[in-house]
Amino acid sequence: MSMNSSTHANTAKRYPDSQVEVRGLEARYYDLLMDVASLGRYKGFIEGAIGDMDIQPGDRILDLGSGSGRNACLMRHYSGEDGEIQGYDIGDEMMARFRTRCARHGNVQVARQPIDEDFPPDAPFDKALISFVLHGLPHPSRLKVLDNVYHALRPGGTFHILDFGEFDPDHRALPVRWFFRHVECPYATDYVRRSWTENLEGAGFVVTEQHPYVWGLARLLTAQKPVTPPLASV
Ligand SMILES: C[S@@+](CC[C@H](N)C(=O)[O-])C[C@H]1O[C@@H](n2cnc3c(N)ncnc32)[C@H](O)[C@@H]1O
Repeated sequence: MSMNSSTHANTAKRYPDSQVEVRGLEARYYDLLMDVASLGRYKGFIEGAIGDMDIQPGDRILDLGSGSGRNACLMRHYSGEDGEIQGYDIGDEMMARFRTRCARHGNVQVARQPIDEDFPPDAPFDKALISFVLHGLPHPSRLKVLDNVYHALRPGGTFHILDFGEFDPDHRALPVRWFFRHVECPYATDYVRRSWTENLEGAGFVVTEQHPYVWGLARLLTAQKPVTPPLASV
């Protein structure tokens, strides 16, 4: 597969079947679409989830697939003047929206960086957030993201996955079955059927907290990079 360069504007989709590579009008009006589709509840939902991340003043936070910057601005409210938020994204419209929205904060920025390729060298981060991106990637790319985050965090740092919960869509109510069959991409069905505790443990993390939302259809999963690395990796 030909991958996008980290430094050049994207033309082709990395994964044609994925729906998280948001572009064009959908990207320009992404926040409005989310608000309308959720009947106005998305804002409260995302504010609650970010509140559950326990962000401290001064935290350096990596925001993977940072989109329009809505989450970054919310996190900045907690990390404050002394913190820093670094978004990574590949969507031109999304990054433009991020830069406009976060322009007033010198310590909130976004860079073009595929989250499933090696990250550039940087000081260790205290936290990383990935919000509604992981489900839309092929599984090997998701594992690469987990590995990247493990190496980007300081020991004791935390990784927060805000995304769909874990369930079998075929065993949920009709609207949920319909949504996963006809609206979401096939990667999403694969995502919700996997054990994310196992995947995170496989990448070296320890799962510390889970916050389910909307009857378990969504979830904030928190995992910590241990302070002491596992014996095998010493
Ligand atoms: C569904 S949007 C979610 C945006 C934001 N995280 C939020 O919760 O509002 C997915 C975002 O991930 C970005 N994205 C998708 N695949 C990516 C990849 N491989 N590397 C970096 N960003 C990616 C898209 O450009 C888009 O901005």
